[in-house]
Amino acid sequence: MHQKRVLLIIGGGIAAYKALDLIRRLRERDVRVRAILTKAGGEFITPLSVASLSGEKAYTELFSLTDEAEMGHIRLSREADLVLVAPATADLMASMAHGIARDLATTALLATDKPVMIAPSMNLQMWSHPATQRNLRTLEADGVLRVGPGSGDLACGEVGDGRLAEVMDIVAAVEGFFAGAVAAPGPSRPLAGRRALVTAGPTHEPIDPVRYIANRSSGKQGYAIARALAALGADTTLVSGPTTLPDPPDVFTVRVESAREMLAVCEASLPVDVAVCVAAVADWRVEDDTRQKIKKNGGRPPTLKLVENPDILAAIAGRANDRPLLVVGFAAETEQVVDYAQRKREKKGCDWIVANDVSPETGIMGGDSNMVHLVTADGVEDWPRASKADVAARLAERIALRLGETAA
Ligand code: C5P
Repeated sequence: MHQKRVLLIIGGGIAAYKALDLIRRLRERDVRVRAILTKAGGEFITPLSVASLSGEKAYTELFSLTDEAEMGHIRLSREADLVLVAPATADLMASMAHGIARDLATTALLATDKPVMIAPSMNLQMWSHPATQRNLRTLEADGVLRVGPGSGDLACGEVGDGRLAEVMDIVAAVEGFFAGAVAAPGPSRPLAGRRALVTAGPTHEPIDPVRYIANRSSGKQGYAIARALAALGADTTLVSGPTTLPDPPDVFTVRVESAREMLAVCEASLPVDVAVCVAAVADWRVEDDTRQKIKKNGGRPPTLKLVENPDILAAIAGRANDRPLLVVGFAAETEQVVDYAQRKREKKGCDWIVANDVSPETGIMGGDSNMVHLVTADGVEDWPRASKADVAARLAERIALRLGETAA
């Protein structure tokens, strides 16, 4: 990102303090950061800290005569390769969607001729409010790029969507943008008329009414893929095991518990053009789960007889009459990631495997970023570390390209 220029617009939100770390991280990567601090942003952090970290004056006022003389707002908005709004508040998104220019930040956003990326941050209700979601759709249709929001504890004490994406995920999105990994701005629905099926999350295999066997899986990557496919126009069904995530917008979500339920819903959802199996399905279930809670038996632990669960990916890939045109599996490994993935592709009969290293030190499991390898019949591609949302967007674009080679 050598000598790339980012105009950072810092909105007013509790997450504004993270913009300081963001400036630092971008500058470490040789990005020049010039910042505009909105009036509300200035309630949380000071122009002085922004200026010290960015090494440039922090711009705050629209009608400052010296600023206008030194650097008009038009020049400010155009002397950048990317305009990044972080945190993007509901108010800033609303202004952007409606072309309102009432201060330096919104004026620069309206005046710019450069790509714009937003990192939204707000309370869960504000994020899910139909007005914000409507504004988001308008911004996406205008070609505005987005990173996050993530899900988790919010400053207001609630839990859910609306958390500013992790700083390193924003950095990864900016890097992805400069590397050309993110699609060029502009509305595009290349998967319109296509049907997609995505599995996500873990499955829970009951031992008795209170205990179960499960794999670790947050469901984040699968949900992001369902969302990305829907954003490209696909009629998308998400079959999800138990997760704490909200249903993705514009996706038909079916919640299941066990592998057998997941398989049944997947089969009922066929035919589809593409199936992406992301779920961390439990390999085994207890042969006869009891209806009564198993009691401790004088210190002797019970013996559980395990039987193998159906392999959903292999079952879909092996369908005789209604096999999807493209079947994509995931491989989460802790060693020899690509090797195992290549073998898995053949064993399961799927077309592509997205392989990732889930060793604990990568922080990928349950985290917001991912680093994957795409294994196809043609070879292996190593993708750079990026947010799960960006990995999903890139995969969806690839799926659209692949399906574009076959008539709908
Ligand atoms: O065999 P392994 O679990 O490593 O394979 C991973 C891939 O297979 C993932 O795409 C996962 O969703 C899928 N899978 C499945 N049903 C299973 C086991 C794995 O769909 N029972």
